[in-house]
Amino acid sequence: MVARVRTVAFQGIEAVPVDVQVMIAPGKVNMHIVGLGDKAVAESRERVQAALHASGLSMPSKKVTVNLAPADLPKEGSHYDLPIALGLMAALGAIPGDMLAGYVVLGELSLDGTIAAVAGALPAAIGANAEGKGLICPFACGPEAAWAGKDFDILAPRSLIAIANHFRGTQVLSRPEAGIHASARDLPDLADIKGQETAKRALEVAAAGGHNMLMIGPPGSGKSMLAQRLPSILPPLAPRELLEVSMIASVAGELGEGKLTDRRPFRAPHHSASMAALVGGGLRVRPGEASLAHHGVLFLDEFPEFSPQALDALRQPLETGDCMIDRANHRVTYPARIQLVAAMNPCRCGMAGEPGYRCLRGDRCRTDYQARISGPLLDRIDLRIEVPAVSASDLIRPDRAEKSADVALRVARARTTQRERFERLGATSVTTNAHCSPSVIEEIAMPDESGLSLLRDASEKLGFSARAYHRVLKVARTLADLEASETVGRIHLAEAISYRMSSERMAQAA
Ligand SMILES: Nc1ncnc2c1ncn2[C@@H]1O[C@H](COP(=O)(O)OP(=O)(O)OP(=O)(O)O)[C@@H](O)[C@H]1O
Ligand SMILES: [Mg+2]
Repeated sequence: MVARVRTVAFQGIEAVPVDVQVMIAPGKVNMHIVGLGDKAVAESRERVQAALHASGLSMPSKKVTVNLAPADLPKEGSHYDLPIALGLMAALGAIPGDMLAGYVVLGELSLDGTIAAVAGALPAAIGANAEGKGLICPFACGPEAAWAGKDFDILAPRSLIAIANHFRGTQVLSRPEAGIHASARDLPDLADIKGQETAKRALEVAAAGGHNMLMIGPPGSGKSMLAQRLPSILPPLAPRELLEVSMIASVAGELGEGKLTDRRPFRAPHHSASMAALVGGGLRVRPGEASLAHHGVLFLDEFPEFSPQALDALRQPLETGDCMIDRANHRVTYPARIQLVAAMNPCRCGMAGEPGYRCLRGDRCRTDYQARISGPLLDRIDLRIEVPAVSASDLIRPDRAEKSADVALRVARARTTQRERFERLGATSVTTNAHCSPSVIEEIAMPDESGLSLLRDASEKLGFSARAYHRVLKVARTLADLEASETVGRIHLAEAISYRMSSERMAQAA
């Protein structure tokens, strides 16, 4: 007889159905697991046998075959332990097999029969709910899985004995409660930053349109401070975005205690991060920092210190909004619609361009340092701003700085304008100017006559790529949206072009 239990394999953030088939047949006493599993799946055999033993069940003195179907789909991870164990228990008659049929099962087993937390409970729960099935998951994953639906049937046992008792009716498990929604509060405030009005304006524009931004300036001018205050002016996640962000965090095993938050992700990996850490991959496929920053901000501080390969791997996600990871026998895609914010010094000594300062190595200091960022990557950055050293008078007697809450209001208004416009145009998957397609931006940001002539002159003089041309239009559209202006005028284009030019100006100054 074959016992069947449903579980899942993760392909990106999607939970693909996997059937665990367990057969006990006469033959040499042994247990085999087949079906393209990785090392963790192969080791499952030892954990399952020990956990069953600890739960008072002895393995049959027969041949046990476990098949994970479909057999050509690669299976990674330790969450197959629980479905295999429950399948074995059903085959042994320790629990009724028909009761298992209505559930999708995932969980890792400890040798003592307790069930340990696994990654991906939220996508598994959403998949199970869509199919009209319930979910059996580890106790620790219950609060996370409970977000999938109010009436959705979830069993979150602590141990194999608890789930067996539940099916026998001797000890009924209660449904877990969804984790508390942590909200976006207590973020560092923009008012802490003295001076730097140009940089704050650029930060507001970047937040309003979701544009990529690069800050260049000497040490201690407040670049890292500015970037860390970006989350405080970004609007909270919309419900659909929240679900996507949480599913990625769940697959990466980063959804602590099942608490979802509507705060936009802000990821700031260290510059020693590898390519796999940034875009995903590694021994076991896992979302990278770019995917964990989906619908939020990826902040790369000390930009040129990242390895060139790691930086260039970001080129594709910045363009398409997802990270594709190619493996020997399959391809995995994680969403990664990010806003890239980067900060760097103008040269290795950090002071190039400052009045009265000359680098010891002359011009090479700056050119060598800036050449670490490839042209194509720079082409994807819409706002490039200089963040000069703060003047003493700004530090000692600063003007009253605006609070994040006031800036956030303007950003939210501009974002609402954009969302409504894209809804009218039927592009519901796009919410910000930065991510709309070239044809749409040409339609919604066509400047007036004088604006067009400025754009033509600038494009010719500065040698804009087609991408740069469209990106200038996008920034100009955001500037007009911040002013609640229907049309894009010359003044908006002039500001948008100035943001693209500033790194070139800087090069000339040095
Ligand atoms: N504009 C500012 N207003 C108030 N304090 C500032 C400002 N700029 C810098 N500081 C102070 O200097 C410290 C360092 O700032 P920050 O880390 O943002 O500099 P940075 O530009 O990132 O420098 P680096 O290039 O060395 O990384 C801050 O913690 C803060 O105390
Ligand atoms: Mg810094």
